[in-house]
Amino acid sequence: MNVHAPAFVKNAKLIAWVTEMATLCKPDAVYWCDGSEEEYERLCQQLVDAGTFRKLNPAKRPGSYLAWSDPSDVARVEDRTFICSQRKEDAGPTNNWMAPAEMRSTLQPLFDGCMKGRTLYVVPFSMGPLGSHIAHIGIELSDSPYVVVNMKIMTRMGKAVYDVLGSDGAFVPCVHTVGAPLQAGEKDVAWPCNPKTKYIVHYPETREIWSYGSGYGGNALLGKKCFALRIASNMGRDQGWLAEHMLILGVTNPEGRKYHVAAAFPSACGKTNFSMLVPPQGFEGWKVTTIGDDIAWIKPHADGRLYAINPEAGYFGVAPGTNFHTNPNCMASLDRNVIFTNVALTDDGDVWWEGMEKDTGEMPAHLIDWQGRDWTPALAKETGAKAAHPNARFTVAATNNPALDPQWNDENGVAIDAFIFGGRRSTTVPLVTEARNWVEGVYMAATMGSETTAAAFGAQGVVRRDPFAMLPFAGYNMADYFQHWIDLGKRLEASGARLPKIYTTNWFRKGEDGKFVWPGYGENMRVLKWMIDRIEGKAQGHENAIGVSPSYEELNWTGLDFSASQFQTVTSIDKAAWVAELKLHEELFSQLAYHLPAELTATKQALAQRLAA
Ligand code: GTP
Ligand code: SPV
Ligand code: MN
Repeated sequence: MNVHAPAFVKNAKLIAWVTEMATLCKPDAVYWCDGSEEEYERLCQQLVDAGTFRKLNPAKRPGSYLAWSDPSDVARVEDRTFICSQRKEDAGPTNNWMAPAEMRSTLQPLFDGCMKGRTLYVVPFSMGPLGSHIAHIGIELSDSPYVVVNMKIMTRMGKAVYDVLGSDGAFVPCVHTVGAPLQAGEKDVAWPCNPKTKYIVHYPETREIWSYGSGYGGNALLGKKCFALRIASNMGRDQGWLAEHMLILGVTNPEGRKYHVAAAFPSACGKTNFSMLVPPQGFEGWKVTTIGDDIAWIKPHADGRLYAINPEAGYFGVAPGTNFHTNPNCMASLDRNVIFTNVALTDDGDVWWEGMEKDTGEMPAHLIDWQGRDWTPALAKETGAKAAHPNARFTVAATNNPALDPQWNDENGVAIDAFIFGGRRSTTVPLVTEARNWVEGVYMAATMGSETTAAAFGAQGVVRRDPFAMLPFAGYNMADYFQHWIDLGKRLEASGARLPKIYTTNWFRKGEDGKFVWPGYGENMRVLKWMIDRIEGKAQGHENAIGVSPSYEELNWTGLDFSASQFQTVTSIDKAAWVAELKLHEELFSQLAYHLPAELTATKQALAQRLAA
């Protein structure tokens, strides 16, 4: 098959691979993306014509579109995600595994002819600033124009990538199909996908990604979780750096001193929110700026410090719950040039999702829900029907964000002063705890539990261990990943560097009424300031069985009515609950016994002893 590579593509290996894949997938045409605005507009119009996109009212939401997915294709599919390393132990017990040869022979017949009746798009992208020493190039082949326009927002995508790639540069090959070939004359559906068969496959040794059957989010936008986390975590292990499920923010105090924090919260547990935080009343002169909202690549520099970059260029964020009270910066960034997926449509051609009623004071009288059905507040009351899918998302360029940090695009990244790990827990885990040292911090992150959310297909609200918020994203054995963190800390410490402090947080503890006790969102600034105070040596904290905690007096309460007894409710440590929690740590550790770092077992023993004392 002649794939007619344009003159600006000079990489022979790339052309050979595209030819090979086109021969296998048998698309009707091959289209090489240039990443131009004109191309974006044209593909969006094509998606409108195909019924995938609806153009929103330009007076309300200029340059914006709404897509509704197939109801079977609404989130990441963790049980269909595979790490196909040569050895099973290298994928580890927390990943699905199949031998590479076996997986290849499973996928070969599925991919044979999978793009019939469709166009194969060649999408060149850079994770990280184009051409920088820290960036990596990927090429995604996809038969979904929805994926192409999302990749244009989420990554540095286009022709310039080919200049960086040159004639012999390296790239990560990423092939994606919705797995829905069209017979001659067959009419396409608005959201093609394969409702029966899905495979999200990674070959870590050869750094390849093969995705079949889904068009949604992390299953299909392969630069994101597949490349920037699962493949990149493998690169990081080999090369001495970290690829993490973390937001990155800058926080500047009234004296003008700026700190940088990277925070790992599991999917749909508050990263986007925290990265765009608006300091509340009582924090005049404080400023929070966004470097990234989902993924961080973190490398040690010659000065012994850890520097983080955001490999992405946009946000693929959770819509429900977002409003002008919870996240005003996010709302401001959504006022133009957005792709919305699975939110509801208003009668005047705008979008709506659960949580927006907090801004207007009322529910809209009528909507079309994410499945194209009529929705009214009365119906919602009666049946609990959600207008937007709980994992409805927006895709928007980082440059839309009014709180964007001036250094967000800096190829050297920002020096990290603190790491935060925060799960979603109704009970047991206090608002904030500081680790006494690096290894204790690694232990806290490794044993983090969190309730599952709509970001992954399957049961929700179930507490599971989600080490480092990386359970679905670590591209190799989780125990080896813990070791990598410990080794990195040791190496930096030996060089005399000051390591970042490590904290755990929980914004989600509930009272007896079943409601969140902590107000969350912008009020999380009160906890963030305590962390900065600790870094500056201004807050003493007190030690307890699990780490270092703030006293009520150490937090700034100006502008918030939050009593000492409420504070007690979100910070108390119930010893019996923690003894039970330790059993769950034990379960995780026995699952991960192969290669589990001895330091973590020792830390657990010390914790058990303190709890028994
Ligand atoms: P991914 O994109 O899936 O990785 O998620 P994320 O971690 O970026 O989550 P996001 O910030 O989008 O938040 C997800 C949900 O949690 C939204 O519905 C938010 O409204 C809610 N949320 C965020 N921060 C807080 C908080 O401080 N308190 C409470 N109660 N809810 C929060
Ligand atoms: C997550 O699930 O953590 C996300 C959304 O950020 S997705 O890109 O679909 O993985
Ligand atoms: Mn995420």
